[in-house]
Amino acid sequence: MRGPNYAELLVLLFLCSATTICFAFNLSDSEVIMRCIEEERQALFKFKQGLQDNFSMLSSWGSDEEDCCKWEGIKCSNRTGHVVTLHLSNKRLSGEIRSSLLGLQHLTYLDLSYNYFSILPKFIGLLTKLQYLNLSKNYFFGTIPPQLGNLSNLISLDISWNIMIIEDYNLDWLFHLSSLRNLDMSSVNLSKVVNWPDKVNMLPSLLQDLRLSNSQLSLPVPPTLINANCSSPLSFLDLSLNQFNSSIFPWLFKYYNRLLHLDLHCTEIEGLIPKALGNMVALVHLDLSFTKIEGLIPKAFGNMTALVHLDLHSTEIEGLIPKAFGNMTALVHLDLSFTKIEGLIPKAFGNMTALVHLDLSFTKIEGLIPKALGNMVALVHLDLSSNKLEGPIPNLSKLSLLRELHLSNNQLNGSLDNVLGKLSKLQVLDLSFNSLKGVITETHLSNLSSLNQLDLSYNYDLSLKFSPDWIPPFHLDYIGLGSCKLGPTFPQWIQTQKNFSALDISSARISDTIPNWFWDLSFNIKYLNISANQITGNIPFEWFSTRFQALNAIDLSYNRFSCPLPQLNSNSWVLNLSNNLFRGTVTFICESDGFLEYLDLSNNLLFGELPKCWPKMANLELLNLANNNLFGRILKSFGKICWKYSFFKSLHFQNNSFIGELPVSLMNCSLLSVIDFGENKLSGRIPTWIGTSLLQLMILRLLSLLVAYHYSYVN
Ligand SMILES: *[C@@H]1O[C@H](CO)[C@@H](O)[C@H](O)[C@H]1NC(C)=O
Ligand SMILES: *[C@@H]1O[C@H](CO)[C@@H](O)[C@H](O)[C@H]1NC(C)=O
Ligand SMILES: *[C@@H]1O[C@H](CO)[C@@H](O)[C@H](O)[C@H]1NC(C)=O
Ligand SMILES: *[C@@H]1O[C@H](CO)[C@@H](O)[C@H](O)[C@H]1NC(C)=O
Ligand SMILES: *[C@@H]1O[C@H](CO)[C@@H](O)[C@H](O)[C@H]1NC(C)=O
Ligand SMILES: *[C@@H]1O[C@H](CO)[C@@H](O)[C@H](O)[C@H]1NC(C)=O
Ligand SMILES: *[C@@H]1O[C@H](CO)[C@@H](O)[C@H](O)[C@H]1NC(C)=O
Ligand SMILES: *[C@@H]1O[C@H](CO)[C@@H](O)[C@H](O)[C@H]1NC(C)=O
Ligand SMILES: *[C@@H]1O[C@H](CO)[C@@H](O)[C@H](O)[C@H]1NC(C)=O
Ligand SMILES: *[C@@H]1O[C@H](CO)[C@@H](O)[C@H](O)[C@H]1NC(C)=O
Ligand SMILES: *[C@@H]1O[C@H](CO)[C@@H](O)[C@H](O)[C@H]1NC(C)=O
Ligand SMILES: *[C@@H]1O[C@H](CO)[C@@H](O)[C@H](O)[C@H]1NC(C)=O
Repeated sequence: MRGPNYAELLVLLFLCSATTICFAFNLSDSEVIMRCIEEERQALFKFKQGLQDNFSMLSSWGSDEEDCCKWEGIKCSNRTGHVVTLHLSNKRLSGEIRSSLLGLQHLTYLDLSYNYFSILPKFIGLLTKLQYLNLSKNYFFGTIPPQLGNLSNLISLDISWNIMIIEDYNLDWLFHLSSLRNLDMSSVNLSKVVNWPDKVNMLPSLLQDLRLSNSQLSLPVPPTLINANCSSPLSFLDLSLNQFNSSIFPWLFKYYNRLLHLDLHCTEIEGLIPKALGNMVALVHLDLSFTKIEGLIPKAFGNMTALVHLDLHSTEIEGLIPKAFGNMTALVHLDLSFTKIEGLIPKAFGNMTALVHLDLSFTKIEGLIPKALGNMVALVHLDLSSNKLEGPIPNLSKLSLLRELHLSNNQLNGSLDNVLGKLSKLQVLDLSFNSLKGVITETHLSNLSSLNQLDLSYNYDLSLKFSPDWIPPFHLDYIGLGSCKLGPTFPQWIQTQKNFSALDISSARISDTIPNWFWDLSFNIKYLNISANQITGNIPFEWFSTRFQALNAIDLSYNRFSCPLPQLNSNSWVLNLSNNLFRGTVTFICESDGFLEYLDLSNNLLFGELPKCWPKMANLELLNLANNNLFGRILKSFGKICWKYSFFKSLHFQNNSFIGELPVSLMNCSLLSVIDFGENKLSGRIPTWIGTSLLQLMILRLLSLLVAYHYSYVN
């Protein structure tokens, strides 16, 4: 050990006692007295040589800095100078854990979690001073070395979420860890451990926190073999993602008065919720989601007044929400979504003023939304969507912390007056698919400065009327206003939304020319639907090629867009330009990158022959060119639409002027279910391969011979 020499110390003492500049030298103990111990510095250096530090996370190790106590992730004892902490979590390290680590015999804290190590060395069991050992989230495989059982000072052990650790015998080494309080062996495969609940009972008597999620746990047969002794003060138990069934409950109830946290989500528990669960009055966190539990929520839940987090979502529970919920005033998180609960939302909900997250979506809840909901002032996330709620939305202006409000797909009516107030934290407002009425003006939205997603679509009687120079305080990503009344003029305020990814203003009763600025908006568009308006104008020639990335869907159908057709070297998946006044040839589609799945150009003024780029269109499912002025033969190359694989299901060429026969190459399109060549000038025989190759075919129109075809086929 190399500390300061006595002369230095004496100088310090002299200055302190003699003058007031003492505080200028008021250095912390560690800096004054301790530097790292040479042998430990060497040990760390050798340890580093075994590691692969591809991202130079440990660049401070070794180079210029002599004092290893100052290296990244290391802490030394102020008193002795020994390295006591090695905290190397999330440093993207791989390579070898070398035995030079044993040079750090005073280590009490070792965290190697969240790295890429794969071999767990036995010698870790020789670091006997360790109190905290975290090896989670690496790629360790094999079995856990039983030498870990020698770490009798260990308080916390975390081996969770490694690639694959199989414990192929009986965990006896664990019983030696007499100081253990926290144990996380989640995703360690314990399927071979005989009678695990008894093993849990034998765990060290100080154990408080036990996590065995995703550990292949099932139950012994018969379950009566389980001896309950429950001497440990176990308060946190996570057994989620395992295979045991409801016969776990009698064992669990032995812990009833101590458990604070119980997580059984994604297990095979089933049947009624046991009434005795209501006796676990200390429970703070209960998660039974994604199980097959069913029946009513027991009234006894009203006694679980300490409950903060209750999650029953995606279960088979049914019936009314018990009034007793009014007793659960500590609840912060309540999720009953995707269940069969029904009836009214109890007024007693107004008592749950601590509630931050309330999700009752996709249930059978009905009736009015109680006014009392407006008193749940802590709410951040409220989701009542996809139910049978009706009547007006109550005054929510006091919910000033609200970030998400989902009320879509109900039968809510009334106006939005006096509902939203100053919800300046609101990010998501989804009221789509209701029957809301009235006029929305600046005053409704002008305080929603955090709004990111606005969905009011499919409220047919809802109008939006803003003054033309209104500048909204928000920048929306999702704008859903389909079937609302926005017109007759094109909504000017959209010009202020420069980076949206989705815009739906379909059926918005707009009869206007599309303004030039519209085509300069967002480079981020994924979904654009302005169909079914009376919009006139041109699409700038290069717009598609500059605006569209993969996964796009564009629907401009049922408008009055006219020539010329846009350039289309895009990746869009869905393109619907039907029912407009586009002129020109179909060849423009050949510039697309072949990701098109759905192409509808029907009911336009297109003319000319078919292009020859069909092999490129291998992803097409629907092609509709009906009701145009196309002519010529349908060449063999057309069937190449199915040359790689066949997705092609629906072909609509009716009411054009095609001649000749159907190409034999269509035989490969084995998924075709609709072929419509009606009202053309095709000739020749009806090919027999139609009956033998296209086994999914449900509709076939050739000329107008549908009936004749069936007749000849049947015979
Ligand atoms: C010096 O140390 C004393 C006691 O540890 C502390 O109260 C004081 O704030 C320190 N002074 C300076 C200048 O750091
Ligand atoms: C570090 O680089 C080595 C050699 O290229 C490689 O084998 C190892 O997987 C890398 N480790 C990480 C965590 O990327
Ligand atoms: C050791 O020193 C650090 C800061 O230098 C301080 O935060 C810590 O509390 C000290 N520990 C002990 C045990 O004195
Ligand atoms: C272990 O490390 C992981 C990842 O860094 C962390 O999430 C976990 O909470 C730690 N476990 C314990 C018991 O501290
Ligand atoms: C503890 O270490 C000793 C040797 O130091 C070894 O013989 C014994 O098997 C170890 N115990 C466990 C439980 O690994
Ligand atoms: C768990 O281990 C058992 C026994 O070794 C094995 O049969 C099973 O496939 C493993 N389960 C998983 C999910 O790896
Ligand atoms: C239960 O506790 C008693 C007394 O503490 C002990 O003798 C017995 O072995 C324990 N049983 C089990 C199964 O752990
Ligand atoms: C639970 O599973 C065991 C087999 O693991 C079976 O014997 C028992 O009948 C099941 N109990 C219930 C309530 O389904
Ligand atoms: C709630 O607890 C009280 C007192 O422990 C008990 O009398 C009552 O029956 C319990 N309520 C229900 C519904 O179980
Ligand atoms: C509410 O809690 C009180 C006291 O904990 C209890 O007496 C009462 O029965 C509970 N009410 C309901 C409806 O469970
Ligand atoms: C709601 O709280 C009030 C007082 O805070 C209480 O009188 C009432 O009984 C509670 N409602 C329910 C249903 O528990
Ligand atoms: C809605 O609630 C707010 C806050 O409590 C209140 O100021 C406002 O007057 C209420 N509006 C109506 C119409 O009740």
